[in-house]
Amino acid sequence: MELTDKHQIVIKKLASGRFFSTQQLADELAVSRTSAWNYLKALERMGFELHAVSGKGTRFKQALELLEAEQIINNISADQRTLVAKLDLLDVCPSTNHHLLQQNALKPLANGVVCMAEMQTMGRGRLGKAWVSPYGQNIYASFIWSFKSGIAALSGLSLACGVAVCRALEELGLSGHGLKWPNDILWQGKKLGGILVEIQGESQGGYSVVVGIGINYQMSSQASTDIDQPWVDICTAYGGEVGRNKLAAKLIERVLEMLDSYEATGLAPYVKPWNNFDCYKNKNVHILSGEKVTQGVAKGISPSGELVLLKPSGETQLIMSGEVSLRLSEC
Ligand code: BTN
Repeated sequence: MELTDKHQIVIKKLASGRFFSTQQLADELAVSRTSAWNYLKALERMGFELHAVSGKGTRFKQALELLEAEQIINNISADQRTLVAKLDLLDVCPSTNHHLLQQNALKPLANGVVCMAEMQTMGRGRLGKAWVSPYGQNIYASFIWSFKSGIAALSGLSLACGVAVCRALEELGLSGHGLKWPNDILWQGKKLGGILVEIQGESQGGYSVVVGIGINYQMSSQASTDIDQPWVDICTAYGGEVGRNKLAAKLIERVLEMLDSYEATGLAPYVKPWNNFDCYKNKNVHILSGEKVTQGVAKGISPSGELVLLKPSGETQLIMSGEVSLRLSEC
């Protein structure tokens, strides 16, 4: 369903968490009460959770802090603000990664274009999975950067990005989060966010890289029914003290800083920090690759970003990212 201007007016009103009568909404929209009611019902079908009380009106079950470009930009420190070529704040789009890739294919984008959306209708996750992306509840952000180096040099970029995200959370005063190879962000073993890097070849050589980050911020249980693993959001993990716009700004700061230096440094300065954030270090794990299962003890990442797996035979195997999944073993 497409969100019209009128839906957006209703969303902006109800985002405050206050009650509005159907008549008040009808007046705001300059439509009949029946139409205002239909707008509310349409939002409910889209996944917004409404709470109606007779005599008071209707409100969103939980207030939403909507994204505001000015607030985000003002919260980015002066040093990194210069790295933001453009902040493209969308209401609804299929996928912020897809948006940047598509725009870049039409006309090459400058390094540091950032795209964020309130909602994705076809959010993409790793291994071809969908990324659940309800309106106003999470962070969906994509960044574009071009690299002259070959594709092999870019293999560690998603790991470096994991470190950048963890540092951003740390700087906001959050703790207890870490990384699961290759690029899941966990909090106390539950998924808090993920990173999807997509690469596009450039006609003049080199590559454009789109780094997509999804962070669960304040997700309703109704929206999350399709998530097939334990998950958590920022507000549950940290008590809701971190504003959504502030979180967006801090992520932009740390991710652009990383992208700006990655061509020169590569993965090297991120290996130790990645291993310090590693949630699975020294844990019994198994690697799933199609039908194949490999058991071992996770020993962090190698200098080139492979997972180091100590097998029961005592032999060490380096696991390349790609179409593999890492799971904790029972014991
Ligand atoms: C994962 O599977 O863990 C990676 C999830 C990445 C989701 C983000 S949300 C912003 C960007 N746009 C997308 O469609 N995907 C990424």
